[in-house]
Amino acid sequence: MAKRIDVSGLTAYYGSHKAIEDISMTVEPRSVTAFIGPSGCGKSTFLRTLNRMHEVTSGGRVEGKVLLDDEDLYGAGIDPVSVRREVGMVFQRPNPFPTMSIFDNVAAGLRLNGSYKKSELGDIVERSLKGANLWNEVKDRLNKPGSGLSGGQQQRLCIARAIAVEPNVLLMDEPCSALDPISTLAIEDLIGELKERFTIVIVTHNMQQAARVSDRTAFFNLAAVGQPGKLIEIDETERIFSNPSVQATEDYISGRFG
Ligand SMILES: Nc1ncnc2c1ncn2[C@@H]1O[C@H](COP(=O)(O)OP(=O)(O)O)[C@@H](O)[C@H]1O
Ligand SMILES: [Mg+2]
Repeated sequence: MAKRIDVSGLTAYYGSHKAIEDISMTVEPRSVTAFIGPSGCGKSTFLRTLNRMHEVTSGGRVEGKVLLDDEDLYGAGIDPVSVRREVGMVFQRPNPFPTMSIFDNVAAGLRLNGSYKKSELGDIVERSLKGANLWNEVKDRLNKPGSGLSGGQQQRLCIARAIAVEPNVLLMDEPCSALDPISTLAIEDLIGELKERFTIVIVTHNMQQAARVSDRTAFFNLAAVGQPGKLIEIDETERIFSNPSVQATEDYISGRFG
C-alpha cells in the first residue's frame, strides 16, 4: 500500500508570490520524514503540493513534478480528488465534523468515495479506530458526537478518518501542536505504528518530536523575508541532529537561528 514519493523541481506560487522554489526529494515507503524550519519557509505549502491541495487556494499554482511510485500526480488526466484519496492529510487543529457521530466521522470519507460494501462499513470503521489506537476509548459510544472527545482523541479520530479510505501516504501538518504532552506522546506512538503501512510526512516545529518520530529530516529555510523557501538539506534524522552538512541547519537545530 505504501508508495514512494519522488519530487523534482517543485516550485509553488500564491498568485505572483513564489512561496517555495525548486524542491526535490524522495520519500521512501514505510518511513517517516519530518519537515522542520522557521515559520513562513513553506513547509505547509510544500506539504499541500503533495496531494494537490495547494491549487485549491486562490492563485495557488505549482511547477515541477510529484511522482507517487510511477504516477505523476500533476500529469494530464489525473483527477485531484483521487489523488487526495491516495494521499491523506491530518491538520494542525483536530477537525472532526462536529454534528456527526464518532462512527459517521470515520465513515465520512468512505461514503464520499463510495468504494466499499455497505455490509463492510462497520468492520472498516472498527479497523480504522483500532488502527488509530482509539477503539477501546470509544467503542461504547460510537453514536455520540465526535466533538465530545478530548483534543487528543479528536486528533486520533481524524487519523482514523484519514486511514479508513486506505491511502498510500499520510501527510500531517503539525498534528500535535494543539495537544497536551500525553496526547502528543500517544500520537507519536501511533505514527510509529502507522509507518508499517503508510508513507508518512510530518511537519513539526518541535525538534525533539522530529528526532523521536522520523527516519529522515528535511530542513527548509528562507534566505530573507519575501524570498521563496528552499530545501536546505535532507538526511537521516540522526545525522541532521548530530552532524548536518550545512551551517544553517546546525544554527537552526542548536537554536542559534535568527
Ligand atoms: N493562502 C495564502 N495566500 C497567500 N500566501 C500564503 C498563503 N499561505 C501561505 N502563504 C505564504 O507562503 C509562504 C509559506 O507559508 P507556509 O507554507 O504557511 O509556511 P510554514 O508552514 O513553513 O510556516 C509565506 O510567505 C506565507 O505568507
Ligand atoms: Mg505551516
